[in-house]
Amino acid sequence: MMDVFYEKVLRPILFKQDPETMHELALKVWRISAAIPPLRAAMETLNLVHTQKPIKVFGLNFPNQIGLAAGFDKDARCWRAAAAFGFGHAEIGTITRHKQSGNPKPRIFRYPESEAVVNACGFPNEGAEAIAKRLDKCPPKSKRKVPLGINIGKSKITPLDEAAEDYVFSFNTLADYADFFVINVSSPNTPELRRLQGADYLPALLGEIRKANLDRAKKLGAPKIPIVLKIAPDLTFREIDAILSILFELEFDGICATNTTVSRPIEGMESIGGLSGRPLSKMSLDIVKYISKATNGNLPIIGVGGVVDEDSAGRLANAGATLIQVYTGMIYRGPFFAKALANALKWRYSDWV
Ligand SMILES: Cc1cc2nc3c(=O)[nH]c(=O)nc-3n(C[C@H](O)[C@H](O)[C@H](O)COP(=O)(O)O)c2cc1C
Repeated sequence: MMDVFYEKVLRPILFKQDPETMHELALKVWRISAAIPPLRAAMETLNLVHTQKPIKVFGLNFPNQIGLAAGFDKDARCWRAAAAFGFGHAEIGTITRHKQSGNPKPRIFRYPESEAVVNACGFPNEGAEAIAKRLDKCPPKSKRKVPLGINIGKSKITPLDEAAEDYVFSFNTLADYADFFVINVSSPNTPELRRLQGADYLPALLGEIRKANLDRAKKLGAPKIPIVLKIAPDLTFREIDAILSILFELEFDGICATNTTVSRPIEGMESIGGLSGRPLSKMSLDIVKYISKATNGNLPIIGVGGVVDEDSAGRLANAGATLIQVYTGMIYRGPFFAKALANALKWRYSDWV
């Protein structure tokens, strides 16, 4: 019902407005839902789908498979509403060490006929310290309805050779608030960022982050925080093999596949930025399938990219994604898309082969 109303009535009105202005409006609606506890509780009761048993991934319990992908709540302003909209986890960020304003606007473009978005945001965010202060005002981890992932990336002003320090600073600043971390080396909108996926940089970068995690755990007598790496869909299988070896060697907890693509399978779209939504579905699916096979299912995979309907979510799940995230799909299907997907995966898991 709600999805038909959104697609037939609301969406045509919202799509007449600038995408980033509409994004701000969506954040406001989420913030209001999060700020009024009885409203939030009622919405959670109504919308948060629980699978028969919680899904246990890297030591955390997820009520359902569907999560909010990075980029929607960059500054941790409204993630507490995620469960009220049916999400079984939320990922905030990308957060960088230094506050930055991102690329000039306009930087988000919709392509409704392809159910796609191109974004060239460039990590606008308030910086790790300011966001840690905001998170500090929230109730503790034990009171959360769903796990919170924190996605960290490199500041634009930081040279590649100093990237590790930048990530470690953000890791240490935000660690007390993260149920898990996502290391973003795959956005196309920070110059040269994706070079961090290569053999010249990745082992040292992930090694430093791992060390920070182990040092913190030892100092506090606390468990390590699960960490996953987010990769681009434009990598070759050979490059992915090299990344997987590093992840196993450094005992990383999982992989998030994928970020947006720099390829343009459809003509006439903005050439700068990353493409998401339906045209990304097959690329992400192929990569998730490949990783699942190459690792014999031994590395948890967060599948993301082009989930725009129940079928695309089901295919990712059956290809081996333990958790699934959405962003662009929500722009096209509406605010309760996560609930619909979680329900579909709960009851129809064998339909997508
Ligand atoms: C407007 C926009 C902003 C994004 N910002 C980020 C970001 O800051 N960090 C990140 O890791 N991914 C970011 N992404 C990528 C998404 O998290 C996701 O990996 C990608 O969009 C593919 O999923 P989708 O097809 O469901 O949108 C962004 C995507 C969009 C559309």
